Amino acid sequence: MMSEGDEKKKRMHELEEKIRSCDLCPLHAYRKNAVPGEGSLDAKVMFIGEAPGRNEDIQGRPFVGAAGKLLDQLLELAGLKREEVYITNVVKCRPPNNRDPASSEKKACQPYLEEQIRIISPKLIVTLGRHSMMEILELSGHKASSIMRERGKVRNIRLFGLKVLLMPTLHPAAALYNPKTRKLLEEDFLRIKDLLRALEPGESGLERYF
Ligand code: URA
Repeated sequence: MMSEGDEKKKRMHELEEKIRSCDLCPLHAYRKNAVPGEGSLDAKVMFIGEAPGRNEDIQGRPFVGAAGKLLDQLLELAGLKREEVYITNVVKCRPPNNRDPASSEKKACQPYLEEQIRIISPKLIVTLGRHSMMEILELSGHKASSIMRERGKVRNIRLFGLKVLLMPTLHPAAALYNPKTRKLLEEDFLRIKDLLRALEPGESGLERYF
C-alpha cells in the first residue's frame, strides 16, 4: 500500500502534468511554460497569487521575478522558508502583457487550484492581491469588501469541505515601488508569524484574531 506522502506526491505529479498540457482556455497558446506551483506538500501555509508573469513563464516556477524576491523577504520576516510553504497562482499560464486574467480563464483553472488545496490541505491560506482574495472568498461562499478592508483580517472558512483559516494580504508587486504598501505587507506577514505560533499544538489564543 502507498504511504500518505507517496499518495500526495503522485496526485500532485499527475496534476502538474495535466496543467502543463492544459488547453482549456486561450492562455495556453501564449505560454512558454505553465506554472503549476511549488513547495511542500505538507505545508501549513499556502500562498496564492494571481498569475505568472514574464519570468515565471520563462522558468515555469511561481514568484521568481522581482515580486518573488520581495515575497522571499516577507517569508523570512514571517519565519518561513520557501521550501516549507506551498506557492501557486489562481491562473497557471501567463496572460499576455500581464493583463488581468479573464473570469473565463480563472474558471477554467479553478479545478486545478481546488485539487491543490485538497492535496495540501493547509491550515492557513494567504491570498496575495485582489484576484486570489476574490476567488477564495467566492469559493467559500463569502462576499468580499475592498482588499484594504480585508487585508490582515483572519477568517475561518470552509473550502471544499475543509476547515481553513484565510488571511488576505496585498500583492507583493504592488509594494515594489511603494514603501507604504510594503509596510502594510510587512505588518501582515508578522501577523502570519503570530498566527502560526497560535496554531501550534498546545498553544491557545487563536480567538484573538477573530
Ligand atoms: N505575480 C503573481 O501573481 N504570481 C507570480 O507567480 C508572479 C508574479
